[in-house]
Amino acid sequence: MESSSPFKENVLKGKVALLTGGGSGIGFEISTQFGKHGASIAIMGRRKSVLDSAVATLRSLGIPAVGFEGDVRKQEDAKRVIESTVKHFGKLDILVNAAAGNFLVSPEDLSPNGFRTVLDIDSVGTFTMCHEALQYLKKGGFGRDSSSGGMILNISATLHYTASWYQIHVSAAKAAVDSLTRSLALEWGTDYDIRVNGIAPGPIGDTTGMSKLAPEEISSKLREYMPLYKLGEKWDIAMAALYLASDAGKYVNGTTVVVDGGLWLSRPRH
Ligand code: HXC
Repeated sequence: MESSSPFKENVLKGKVALLTGGGSGIGFEISTQFGKHGASIAIMGRRKSVLDSAVATLRSLGIPAVGFEGDVRKQEDAKRVIESTVKHFGKLDILVNAAAGNFLVSPEDLSPNGFRTVLDIDSVGTFTMCHEALQYLKKGGFGRDSSSGGMILNISATLHYTASWYQIHVSAAKAAVDSLTRSLALEWGTDYDIRVNGIAPGPIGDTTGMSKLAPEEISSKLREYMPLYKLGEKWDIAMAALYLASDAGKYVNGTTVVVDGGLWLSRPRH
């Protein structure tokens, strides 16, 4: 059952958000909650059917929404989708990088091209989107006034805080994403008044990540040593995103908020 939001409905009123991977999973829940809180939503993704159905659902909720096909690995797609978003809604305030690639594989079975593919999607894709969006997000950028810049939110993970089995590629990719978050927060915060933050979700129920990466057996075992004894919900991630994207988070820059119920630091009781 969906929880109601503790935020006022207008916390993102008038904002325009573009979300890569915003048509499914955690990305879609962020799209929905941003829309319910006043934002207009553009979604970028590779699969037309996913985009169409996400946009239809958002519109049925009264949320102004549009979908653009594109692959974050292609600079021309990034540029085109960002330009189309601005053409459609007049400006861009929030970029959410939620597109990610993943599969479980041991290092010895992972080809260098497989490794590169995930880094291309998660890390290079995030950089490319930020790079192409800068001219619209910066203070005084197209469609914005000269008093404030926009914000960037990068969806990360906690895998690389320690080490995670069969996730060498994703761990490396998300470590790079966290580093991008800090570097851009420093440089673009200073020069362009853009805030750049991340969210590192723990295990979230009902997502592709969980079904692909954590078979049944893991989710039941997890409960034995998870501090909060339960999986997170997509809603939990969306609420953290709302906090960071709204004025409530206006002094937060360069941080990646861990939303995992305390899981990454826990050890079995003995
Ligand atoms: C080993 C694999 C593989 C697998 C692909 N490769 N799948 N290697 N095991 N299961 C290798 C291929 O052999 C190939 O290398 C290279 O990766 C590229 O494969 P392609 O199939 O050509 O790539 P592509 O079609 O672009 O697909 C990208 C993908 C795909 C990442 C492989 O799975 C994908 O996009 N999935 C959808 C996105 C997704 O899963 N989202 C959920 C993210 S959850 P060679 O050498 O053979 O050419 C998430 C959570 C993280 O991110 C945190 C969890 C806690």
